Amino acid sequence: MDKQVDALETGRNFNLFDPNLPPGQQVLGLFYAKWILGALRAVVELEVPDVLADGPLTAAEIAAKTGTHADPLYRVLRAVSASGIIAERADGRFELTPLSAGLVSNAERGIRDMFLFASDPMFLRPYEDVAHSVRTGETAFEHIFGMPFYDYLKANPASSALLNRAMVQNHWPLSDRIFEEFDFSRFATIADIGGGKGQFLAEILRRHPGCTGVLADQAHTVTEAKQVLEDAGVADRVEIVPTDFFVEVPAGHDAYFIKHTLHNFGNDAAKIILGKIREAIGDNPEARLLIVDQMITGPGEWDTAKLIDVEALSVIGGRERSRKEWDEVAAVAGFEPVNAPEPGGLVMLEYRPV
Ligand SMILES: C[S@@+](CC[C@H](N)C(=O)[O-])C[C@H]1O[C@@H](n2cnc3c(N)ncnc32)[C@H](O)[C@@H]1O
Repeated sequence: MDKQVDALETGRNFNLFDPNLPPGQQVLGLFYAKWILGALRAVVELEVPDVLADGPLTAAEIAAKTGTHADPLYRVLRAVSASGIIAERADGRFELTPLSAGLVSNAERGIRDMFLFASDPMFLRPYEDVAHSVRTGETAFEHIFGMPFYDYLKANPASSALLNRAMVQNHWPLSDRIFEEFDFSRFATIADIGGGKGQFLAEILRRHPGCTGVLADQAHTVTEAKQVLEDAGVADRVEIVPTDFFVEVPAGHDAYFIKHTLHNFGNDAAKIILGKIREAIGDNPEARLLIVDQMITGPGEWDTAKLIDVEALSVIGGRERSRKEWDEVAAVAGFEPVNAPEPGGLVMLEYRPV
């Protein structure tokens, strides 16, 4: 483990704006990200982190275990190691560092599927033509793949399965903070709209034994939820309802949780979804809409939501929103704000029906 910490400290001396270049050329350093990401994707696809999980190995030993060629594997590992994500030791062996530990299959709080999903061609290729989105307002994804993102997922079950597996690994520390700070126990029944395989509803119910829940998502997504809910020991408190949230949302619940979903849609679609939630709430003034998503910061501030917003623009035609934009779509649907979280990163916005 000492070695791993050394690697973390010494290997990260790369800088996306290369200080060795004149300022007018430093943006060329951004290509380092492409080079590292491409090499690391190969390493992860070939399950090298799994092979290294039991300890350091040479490239030849890893090649034998992964059925690959030792020389190109060595060159790829050497490049990844220059960033500190994997360590290249003086004895010629490679080993995992804390930065690659999460890339091992089945690692605790691992991110292997999330990494493969986010670096998949379905998310990389739209970046070949973001200009198309800017010129036309349409997604670069459809321009490149010939169909919208969700149609592509339907036509490619392996990609859809990867997305679903990745969403289970969508466990940001910020989500934990929301679960810890917000008192969900004040709601007897919680509906998770677009709740995926149910891992977040499961976490809420696990923490609040007095609550019951409804998991509402597309039929092909919720089929996999039963196992997740059973594993969390909450299956007996959850009703799984196959749902198209553009048509109807299960009615009569105290809280409507919608997480990491509205940012996949433009404002017109978001207003329809929120309108369906408003209809489902009916005349219960105590019911709440709980939106968990990014809230964009002010001008000039570093904010990953501003980056993800361009991905939303070019891949799915969605958008990240500022406080003002969230309040506008919520108001059209019949909601007014209750809380005032700080912008930047993931937030939970609470709205009451009006
Ligand atoms: C990015 S995922 C978020 C999943 C989950 N809430 C989470 O935070 O991990 C978006 C979810 O919206 C669901 N979804 C997309 N269109 C839908 C529709 N028309 N009706 C219901 N759910 C839909 C997808 O199946 C997917 O599970």
